[in-house]
Amino acid sequence: MFNEIKPPTKILVLISGSGSNLQSIIDACNADKIKGVIVGVISNVPATKGLERAKKARIPTSVVNHQTFSERYEFDRQLAKTVDSYYPDLIVLAGFMRILSKELVTSYADKMINIHPSLLPAYPGVNTHQRAIEAGETYAGATVHFVTSELDRGPGILQAKVDIHPEDTATDLAERVLAKEHIIFPKVIEWVCDGRITLDNGVVFKDGVSVPHAGLIFSENTEH
Ligand code: GRF
Repeated sequence: MFNEIKPPTKILVLISGSGSNLQSIIDACNADKIKGVIVGVISNVPATKGLERAKKARIPTSVVNHQTFSERYEFDRQLAKTVDSYYPDLIVLAGFMRILSKELVTSYADKMINIHPSLLPAYPGVNTHQRAIEAGETYAGATVHFVTSELDRGPGILQAKVDIHPEDTATDLAERVLAKEHIIFPKVIEWVCDGRITLDNGVVFKDGVSVPHAGLIFSENTEH
C-alpha cells in the first residue's frame, strides 16, 4: 500500500500595492513552513512593488488593471477568468484593494482569505488606523478572515493586537500593525495548507475546535 501523498496547496495571491504581506508568505514558503506553492500573483495595479517581489521569486504574475475597463462587470469577468486560469486551491487577498464580485466570492467560498488592518468587526473598510486613533481606542490590530460577499465581515480565523500609544500617528500605527500582519498571515496559511482549518456553515474550526467569530487571538507565547 502506498501512503496517500497530498499535493502542495496551490496558493494564488491577489495584491494592489507594496506586497509586504506577499513577501512574508513567499518567505514562509521558502522556509518550508507553508506546505504550499504560490502558483501566481495577480495585481489590479500595474508596476507595483508587489509584482517586483513576485518576479524576483520567479512566481508567474498577471495584471488585471481595473482602469482599463469601462464597465465594472468587464473587470470582474476578466479577473475571474484570470483567477480560474491558475486553478488555485487557496486565494489569498494580501492588500487587494478592489471589491470582488459576488460570483467570484461564491465560486471560491471557503477557499479565500483576507487580511484586514483592524480588529474586526471594528473598523471595516479603509482608513482604519486614523479612525481608531480619532475614536480614542487604546489598541488596534489585524484580522485574517474568510471572505464572504459582505465586505470585511467573513468569519475570523486569527487576530493580533497592538497597543495604540498616545503620540501615535496613523503611519506609526500602520507600521506596528503591519509587523503583526507579517506574522499572522503566513501562520494562518500554514494552518490551512496543513488541513487544520475548516469552515462549516459560517463557523471556523481549528483542529476540529470551533473558533470565536472574530477569530483566535495571536500570542507570541502560545504555540499555535
Ligand atoms: C495591509 O495593511 C493590509 O492589511 C491592507 O493593505 C496593506 C497591504 O500591505 N489590506 P502590503 O501591500 O502587503 O505591504
